[in-house]
Order: sequence, then C-alpha cells, then structure tokens
Amino acid sequence: MQTQHPIIIGHRGAAGEAPENTLASFALALEQGAEGIELDVHLTKDGEIVVCHDPSVDRTTNGSGLIMNQSWGDLKALDAGLWFSEAYTGERIPLLREVFELVPRGLLINVEVKHAYEGRMEKALLAFLRESGRLEDVVISSFDHKVIQRLKQQEPEAKVGLLYAANLINHAAYAKQLGVDVHSLHPYHHGIEHEDVAAATSAGLATYPYTVNEIADYKRLITFGVTGIITDYPARLKALLKA
Ligand code: G3P
Ligand code: MG
Repeated sequence: MQTQHPIIIGHRGAAGEAPENTLASFALALEQGAEGIELDVHLTKDGEIVVCHDPSVDRTTNGSGLIMNQSWGDLKALDAGLWFSEAYTGERIPLLREVFELVPRGLLINVEVKHAYEGRMEKALLAFLRESGRLEDVVISSFDHKVIQRLKQQEPEAKVGLLYAANLINHAAYAKQLGVDVHSLHPYHHGIEHEDVAAATSAGLATYPYTVNEIADYKRLITFGVTGIITDYPARLKALLKA
C-alpha cells in the first residue's frame, strides 16, 4: 500500500489560475502549498535566461517575435499578465534569477530547457546554477535528451530528468541507456503505468508525471506511488492530499 504522498509541483507556477511563468503564478503556487515549481526557459539575444514557455512572446505577452531576437531590455517592457486577466496587468516575463529569488531554498525547482541554442543554453544555465549554489534544489528536464546527457556530462552534480510522452516498453531501462546518471522520469501522465513507476522506483529514479489536473488522475498516480505530480492547480491537489 502507498503511504508516501507525492510532492506538489506547480506547472508554470499555478498556470490554471494565474498567467503562466510569471512571478505572480509562482507566488500563488507556493501560497497554495506547492513544494516545487516547474518552469520553462529560453535564451535572449544578449544571453539572459528568461522564463517563458513558447520560443516567441506572441501568445503570452502584448509583444511579438522570437525571444532569441530580443534583448532582456526589450522583453522586460512587455506585459505578460494582461492576456490572462486584467487583474494581472503589469506582470513581466521573469529572469530565471528572479524566480530563484522568490522560491525559498529547499523547494524543488524543475527547469525545463526548451531549446539548446547550439549549446549556449547549457553553458549559461550551468554557470547560473553553479553561481546560485542551489544545484541540490534543481532538476533540469527536457524533451531533448541529448541536452540532458550533455548537461550531466558537463556538471556531474546537476540532477537531470527525461521528459517524454511515449509509453515506453521499459521506462527505467531507457533512462539507463543514456550512460549518465538520470535523476528522474517526467512522463506524460497517461503514458506510464503502475508497474513502470514501481520499476523506476526500484531503479532509484524519481517519477514526476505532467500535466495532471483532474482528481481521478491525481488518485491514479498517487496509487502508483509517483514521487511528485506536476499540476496547473496546486490547491486542488493539496485539498485532495489533505483529505
Ligand atoms: O515539464 C512538464 C511539462 O511542462 C512539459 O510540457 O509543454 O507544458 O512545457 P510543457
Ligand atoms: Mg514545461
């Protein structure tokens, strides 16, 4: 029987209730009881790491164009809250550094790398994480598993996780195949079964399925014994775990 509760990981903060990947969204997730947050990163023209899901700012701000073609000076002038609700007018695209300042030490920060930017993201991210002294709190994940492999080769202290949607024949064996020590599996939540989670746990891998928002899905994954659940609604999961 499963007795250990999974930790609550706020997806892009509390993306169901606040504009995703803003400081307001991360603050709300923490307020609601999240023990970790997930965020997405891109690199600006002048080499700053910013928190945004899409490669362009079109969907989530009042600006347009690719992040890689704009400097931090340009991007910080954009409104990243208004598209979601007037109540969030004035929210900005945050720097990764600003999110780290907001999140207390000891909580999990899952940094999802969206693009390699020809290796420049790996360099910038590792430099930032080493300087932050918070490698212990951070899990770096990506759908690009070669990025994950290179990050771990460059920084053995980094915790790395594999993001994927396929229901693999053997999830734990796939992780072993990378030839570097993988910390966690981040599967699409319908793409992993009870025995896969058990095998991953036996192999020393944490499991953080994404993005789970329905009560029935929370319950199924709790029964599976996953390590954490990535959700847009931290308060909803918190209420279930309390009950
Ligand atoms: O990291 C889990 C999840 O965020 C992956 O998908 O598109 O929401 O970044 P996406
Ligand atoms: Mg993500």
